[in-house]
Amino acid sequence: MSVSETTTDEFDDTLIAEPDRSAPARIRLSPGPTRRPTPEPAAPAITRQIVFDARGVWVDYGAKRALEDVTMTIERNLATALIGPSGCGKSTFLRCLNRMNDSIPGFSVGGELRYHGHDLYGPTANRVEVRRRIGMVFQKPNPFPKSIYDNVAWAPRNLGMKDGLDERVERALRGAALWDEVKDRLKQSALGLSGGQQQRLCIARAIAVEPDVVLLDEPASALDPIATASIEDLIHELKLRYTIVIVTHNMQQAMRVADRTAFFSLDENRTGALIEYADTKTLFSHPADSRTRDYITGQFG
Ligand SMILES: Nc1ncnc2c1ncn2[C@@H]1O[C@H](COP(=O)(O)OP(=O)(O)OP(=O)(O)O)[C@@H](O)[C@H]1O
Ligand SMILES: [Mg+2]
Repeated sequence: MSVSETTTDEFDDTLIAEPDRSAPARIRLSPGPTRRPTPEPAAPAITRQIVFDARGVWVDYGAKRALEDVTMTIERNLATALIGPSGCGKSTFLRCLNRMNDSIPGFSVGGELRYHGHDLYGPTANRVEVRRRIGMVFQKPNPFPKSIYDNVAWAPRNLGMKDGLDERVERALRGAALWDEVKDRLKQSALGLSGGQQQRLCIARAIAVEPDVVLLDEPASALDPIATASIEDLIHELKLRYTIVIVTHNMQQAMRVADRTAFFSLDENRTGALIEYADTKTLFSHPADSRTRDYITGQFG
C-alpha cells in the first residue's frame, strides 16, 4: 500500500467524542515572496495522519511521578516502538493511549493527549468507543477459557456486532495469520493452542472489532524464536491496516518491525522521560543523545 493511499482514507471521528471546538483552526499561510532560490527537485512530501498527539504528558501513581513531559506524535499505518530500561514508563504510556490505566488506584494523568484531534481524557471522550478503536495485546497470551471461536467473537458480541459474526471471526483469524491452523477446531478450547498460537489468537481478538490502533506490550517476550518471528511478520502485515504501537525490550525486534522508535529512560528521581524519538534507522545508527547511545550499545547502568 502506498503512502498516498493510506492518507486519503479519512478517519471517521464522529463517534469518539463531540467535535472539539477548541481545536485550533487550520491556518492558511499567505504566499511567500515571489523571488525564490533555484528550485531543487524535491522528494514528494509524505504527510501522514497523526493518530496520537501527546504534549507534556505526565503520569502519577499516588505521590510517585512515573512519567514526565512526554511530547510525541504517533502516525497512521506506521509501527512505532517504545524502548528503554525497566520501569521507565513504557507500559504506562502505552496504556494511557487507550485509557487502560484509569482503574488503577492513585493513577492520574496530565498534559494533553489527543487521538485524531480529540482529547482522550476530555469530558466528552467515550471510553467504550476508545477501547473499541484502540485494541491491546499483552505480554502474556491471555485467551479466555472458551473456544477459539468464542474468544474472537467475544468483543463483537459484547458490542452488539452480531451480524455476519462467522465471517468476522474468520476475517480476524486470517488477519492474525491463524486461520489455516485453527479452522477445523474453532469449537475447541483456546487453551489447547501453543503459546505463539494463543498470542496470535489474542491479536485476532483485538482486531475482531476492526480497531484503528493495536497496542502491543512486549507481545513476543514469552515466545520462542519461531513464534516470535511469526508475530514480527504479522506486525508487518498489520500495519498496512492498523496503526501499531509496540513496547519491546528486544532492540533487534524494534529494528526489524518499527518505522519509528522512542527511547524512554529514567532520570535521577527514577521518573520516566522520553529521551529521543526518531526514525528507527536513525535512532539506532546515529542517536542524538548520549543516553540513547549508551542504552543501545549496552552501556546502560
Ligand atoms: N499499577 C501501578 N501502581 C503503582 N505504580 C506503578 C503501577 N504500574 C507501574 N507503576 C510504576 O510506574 C513506573 C513505570 O512502570 P511501567 O510498568 O510503565 O514501566 P516499563 O517501562 O513498562 O517497565 P518494564 O520494562 O519492566 O515493563 C515504575 O516505577 C512502576 O513501579
Ligand atoms: Mg512494561
